[in-house]
Amino acid sequence: MDLTIEHRPLDALIPFARNAHTHSPQQIAQIAGSLREFGWTNPILVDGENGVIAGHGRLLAARQLGLTEVPVIELAHLTPTQKRAYILADNRLAESAGWDQELLALELAELKDADFDLALTGFDAGELEKLLDNVDSDEKLQETEETPAHDAADEVPEAPTVPVSRTGDCWQLGQHRLICGDAADVELIAALMQGEQAALCLTSPPYGNQRNYQNAIIDWDALMQGVFAQLPLTANGQVLVNLGLIHRDNEVVPYWDDWIAWMRAHGWRRFAWYVWDQGAGLPGDWNGRLAPRFEFIFHFNRQDSAVRRPNKTIPCRYAGDNRHLRSDGTSGNFREPDGRKSDWTHVGQPIQDFRIPDSVIGIHRQRRRIGAEIDHPAVFPVALPQYLIDAYTDQGEIVFDPFCGSGTTILAAERTQRRCTAVEIAPAYVDVAVKRFQQNHPEVEVTLAGTGQSFEAVAAERQPERRDTR
Ligand SMILES: C[S@@+](CC[C@H](N)C(=O)[O-])C[C@H]1O[C@@H](n2cnc3c(N)ncnc32)[C@H](O)[C@@H]1O
Repeated sequence: MDLTIEHRPLDALIPFARNAHTHSPQQIAQIAGSLREFGWTNPILVDGENGVIAGHGRLLAARQLGLTEVPVIELAHLTPTQKRAYILADNRLAESAGWDQELLALELAELKDADFDLALTGFDAGELEKLLDNVDSDEKLQETEETPAHDAADEVPEAPTVPVSRTGDCWQLGQHRLICGDAADVELIAALMQGEQAALCLTSPPYGNQRNYQNAIIDWDALMQGVFAQLPLTANGQVLVNLGLIHRDNEVVPYWDDWIAWMRAHGWRRFAWYVWDQGAGLPGDWNGRLAPRFEFIFHFNRQDSAVRRPNKTIPCRYAGDNRHLRSDGTSGNFREPDGRKSDWTHVGQPIQDFRIPDSVIGIHRQRRRIGAEIDHPAVFPVALPQYLIDAYTDQGEIVFDPFCGSGTTILAAERTQRRCTAVEIAPAYVDVAVKRFQQNHPEVEVTLAGTGQSFEAVAAERQPERRDTR
């Protein structure tokens, strides 16, 4: 069926006399506001004799705006009975759709941040206040001890539809390296590491079996085994892996079980398990569950290596306080189960300045999207890798991230004077990571390993081919 849009005089259109759908003056004013802001996005549907089938509200709003012509689509194929039924169905079917309260609140909050007049979305002032209130209090609650109110490094550039980067490209970003390819590829990892070893593998793989960038279902166990079989780590390197919950058929899926068993069989002990508390839950219907606000971080290290102590990076609230000391300068001690007394490590000392970070990490969740064009990975807030890098590496050491996404770990490494070596399979995300690094560190040189060209020079050189692939 050929649907063509034509413009007809507004006065020629005939509203349906028995239209059961009503429009209040307030709603007509809202539609008029929407027409003024967005223009015509939805033509009026008419029958073969200019009788209106759908768009009575738009017609009234157009009249209110003093328009003389309106866009229409003629649906001449409907029988009179079908036409009467469709006049009802067109409105009723739209009413049956629901709202994802969480996404709705986020969209509204972001439009508000962009100074958009929210009244034009059609939500009334009361509804907007309620929805935005939830987001505002969520933001306030999430300003925790470890999270700054706003971190400019969390801004993620749009992903390109036609990327500059290609599989095999290795970008040198100051003292960091980012290679485009599969992190399970032994030769690719060798090219990335150039004979060096990392002290920490810190990463966030895709969560469970899902569609990958090329829209194929990934075999999660095969992916994880491929990548973790050849970690370029020092003998007592630490492995920190962030994974979130997946539910299927109303049950939590412990998709990591087989991979953890595989890790243990390959000499990695299940050393610890941490919680990333992402901040207050958002409004929404969570299918009967409480609002989600956490993910996990699995910590592995080598079964036969010495335990690496985390750095003390968190300032103590009562640093220097000595009220816990007895008058003779001693402090309490512990009684072991066998009755022996053992001293505190810091016996007789005032409270230390810094302490070991907590196993529940309260850092605001990143809600930005990488881009509308491609599927987006869940982006870390920079503060999260920063917290873990500070704890488990020293300055100058290497952090390896085999699932780099938008390059958050690279930014955290730069901030903490560590070096990052990273892998990302999707060329578009590689571009995002490079651009994100450049926007945060314009003074640091970014070059393509092998040719020494800048990102901009490579983009210009590949421009004709990129246009051909569009
Ligand atoms: C959850 S995201 C990581 C997000 C990242 N932490 C950030 O802050 O942006 C997982 C990433 O792994 C990438 N990926 C998936 N399979 C890969 C593979 N075999 N090798 C390298 N990267 C891969 C995906 O393209 C995606 O960007």
